[in-house]
Amino acid sequence: MFDVSQFRSHFPILNSSLSSGKKLVYVDTASTSQKPSCVIDSVCDFYRSYNANVNHGLYDFAVRATEAYELTRFRIGKYFNVSEKEIAFTYGTTDGMNTLAASYSRKILSAGDEVLVGAAEHHSSCLPWRRACADTGATVKIIPLRGKQYELDVDFYRSMFGKRTKLVVIQHISNVLGNINDIKLLTRIAHENGAKIVIDGAASMAHGPFDLSDIDCDFFVTSGHKAFGPSGSGFLFGKSHLLDEMPPFRVGGQMVNEVSFTDALYKLSPERFEGGTPSIASVIGFGESIKFLSEIDWVFARRYLTKLTKYCHDRLLEVDGIELYGSGNAGIFSFNIAPLHCHDVATILAKYGIAIRAGHHCVQPLMSLLGTNGTARISLCLYNTIEEIDFIVDILKTCKSYFAR
Ligand code: ALA
Repeated sequence: MFDVSQFRSHFPILNSSLSSGKKLVYVDTASTSQKPSCVIDSVCDFYRSYNANVNHGLYDFAVRATEAYELTRFRIGKYFNVSEKEIAFTYGTTDGMNTLAASYSRKILSAGDEVLVGAAEHHSSCLPWRRACADTGATVKIIPLRGKQYELDVDFYRSMFGKRTKLVVIQHISNVLGNINDIKLLTRIAHENGAKIVIDGAASMAHGPFDLSDIDCDFFVTSGHKAFGPSGSGFLFGKSHLLDEMPPFRVGGQMVNEVSFTDALYKLSPERFEGGTPSIASVIGFGESIKFLSEIDWVFARRYLTKLTKYCHDRLLEVDGIELYGSGNAGIFSFNIAPLHCHDVATILAKYGIAIRAGHHCVQPLMSLLGTNGTARISLCLYNTIEEIDFIVDILKTCKSYFAR
């Protein structure tokens, strides 16, 4: 059994009262997750007990800091079943995607090439590749969605590849629709057609481990803060041979072996992508969050999330005038309640201590397909409960009455 009360006890913020005196109901994990005490403590402990820069000093704290920093790399490699040498730290998904687009595009793209990008991609995925294509003369082609739940059109995707298709950029889970893409299948199709694939894993981090070696994707980028880790942490996974042949993006200290007045000899991956002093405390906290994730019994946890997701979906349908966008399968529900504006819905919920996100969720092209300029969004996590969902639905049912007064 998954014990939600026990799980919640790891998160001090969930027991705090808001300035209004209301109890917090946090259903905005797709924006950022809450943090367990072990992560908060590990960040504090670094600053309190052994704050030093990494990879430089020979004194005690510096060695401890470097070891703790590298332990995170080891834990991520183990959790996702890849070599730690294939994990480069980033400041988050946006940073990982920008690093890749700026660097890898110079390696593989030239005029006339094509990059396939999903229609539901976050701005942090579509914009870096749009710019990389503009800079190299390549073209972005959009992989369409189909059906009432706006699923990725896999058949059409299969037909899009041509001789000049070099790369696919696709999310694992949509941060708006809650749809889960079959990234193993998408990877296989890309490879059969001689293309590489980049997976945006931002919204999938809180869904438990998956095997990147088995999925066989070429690159994977994500953020620590989406799954109990600190903001300012994330990683770029890339197959070793691909990372090693990529030119570095952020040049500076830490990522170079030798510099003369005219030349520079860059380190191999992953260090070549880690120029400058990194977010050391965040990386150490990220390692603690990976340990925390590793200690969850995911068989029971996934069962609990599935139950919560189905319950939330069914209860939301009780709300008069609600329009749900997407399957919500990943526990992410975007909706509007006609004729209310999504910001009004979010404001009313906030009065009751309920934290959701409303707006375009940094996916404006998708909003235009949905025929709206914004949605309200509930995103569930393992610390949410059936009672919280009941409470939210009760308030949603009253939302329209605010404007009838
Ligand atoms: N990508 C984050 C979200 O969906 C910020 O809210």
